[in-house]
Amino acid sequence: MTPPRRQHLRRRTAVLATVPVALAALVGAAGATAPGSAGTSGAGDPYFPLSGNGGYHVRHYDLTLRYDTSSRHLDGRAVLTVRATQHLSRFDLDLKGLKVTGVTVDGTSSAFRRDGQELVVTPRRTLRAGRDFRVTVSYEGTPKPVTDPDGSADGWIPTDDGAFVAGEPQGAMTWFPANSHPKDKASYDITVTVPQGRTAVAGGTLLGQRTEHGRTTFRWRESRPMAAYLATVTIGTFKVEQYTTHDGIRVYNAVDPREASAAAPVLRKLPSVLAWESKLFGPYPFRSAGSIVDHAPGVGYALETQTRPLYDSAPDISTLVHENAHQWFGDSVSLTAWKDIWLNEGFATYAEWLYAEQHGGDSAQKTFDALYARPASDHLWAFPPGDPGSGGNIFDTPVYARGAMTLHELRKAVGDRDFFRILRAWTAGHRDGHGTTAQFTRLAERISGKRLDGLFHTWLFGKGKPNSA
Ligand code: TRP
Ligand code: ZN
Repeated sequence: MTPPRRQHLRRRTAVLATVPVALAALVGAAGATAPGSAGTSGAGDPYFPLSGNGGYHVRHYDLTLRYDTSSRHLDGRAVLTVRATQHLSRFDLDLKGLKVTGVTVDGTSSAFRRDGQELVVTPRRTLRAGRDFRVTVSYEGTPKPVTDPDGSADGWIPTDDGAFVAGEPQGAMTWFPANSHPKDKASYDITVTVPQGRTAVAGGTLLGQRTEHGRTTFRWRESRPMAAYLATVTIGTFKVEQYTTHDGIRVYNAVDPREASAAAPVLRKLPSVLAWESKLFGPYPFRSAGSIVDHAPGVGYALETQTRPLYDSAPDISTLVHENAHQWFGDSVSLTAWKDIWLNEGFATYAEWLYAEQHGGDSAQKTFDALYARPASDHLWAFPPGDPGSGGNIFDTPVYARGAMTLHELRKAVGDRDFFRILRAWTAGHRDGHGTTAQFTRLAERISGKRLDGLFHTWLFGKGKPNSA
């Protein structure tokens, strides 16, 4: 049993958005003078009201970055392929810190201003609903992490040999202009230039790498939809290992030499962990996999960066199982609101319990019982996992442990066969997309043919310690 990954402790799309479209239709095809309205400054998530933005969907990010590990200066150019979901007179991107030196929309330079974490862009012409447009943002500066409501650092976190780059829940904006909410997923091309001898690792496949004039450029591509928080370009002095598994998954492991001996026996198990998880959860959702094992003391958590989890130090086997389980739960099937975080953390934690159970460790029942034995005053029961209450609680024990306990209760109620059918129907039905708590509970009822509202109400939403079944 592992509580959160933190070692030391450790939608609503504007309904209004359709109004301008309807208005425009009334007015008729008005060309460049079509009435447009401003896209919203947030995606409508009450936990992180300014994360993400309304009025458009980013289809693709093409990031070209250069980082100087000694001066810690970042030069960036982001080219976003965007679809307007309303006529847009103006729209926001999320970007915190850094200096923006220019913005173009479809090749024409555009007016922009900074307003806190919002980069507000006013194109010369109204962008038409349903059309694609291209935004280029040139920027530079010294990226700094953000502090999350729970006190942890997130985003671009400098290390002694590079940077640990993790964006959950809100740090993506510290290093690229984004629609930074998991509701909006896109494909990514990331090209990063670093001093020769350093390696820059992102998700997806390495298209190529080239050294010139003392610098190395890495070209990465993730073609599957990815939430901004799951993107990384972690930089360091890494030992790299690449191979293809029996299932044809391309593995790229990058390991800080200071963590190498501790990491080796665990990383060796990655192919068997992925094969085991595929048996339980359905086919591995991506084509590439791997690990980034950094030496980043003080970070205190690992992150399930898409295709290639990021560890602040050598992971133990539970952590490897947990972060890779997120590839199904969180990365392929993503949240529409941070309130549903148990769909990520409860599931990844339950994967740890299942792994132990099937690999000579404690049964899931035993893990459940040990937690259930905690007194009603224990922090485990402080709030219900389906309604954590605020952004400061999303990575706390009730989400992880009681979230996993909820799944164990479900398993007992429906039996193993239906339980694993539910998990596989979930990952298959929402692959490369999104899922909500209500969709999960309906699916569980449909597949099992049982009424489960009482169970979910008690375990996900009930205040205090649930009574034993
Ligand atoms: N999602 C991570 C995991 O459990 C944990 C995590 C990501 C986290 N960002 C964080 C924990 C910020 C605390 C603070 O695998
Ligand atoms: Zn997790």
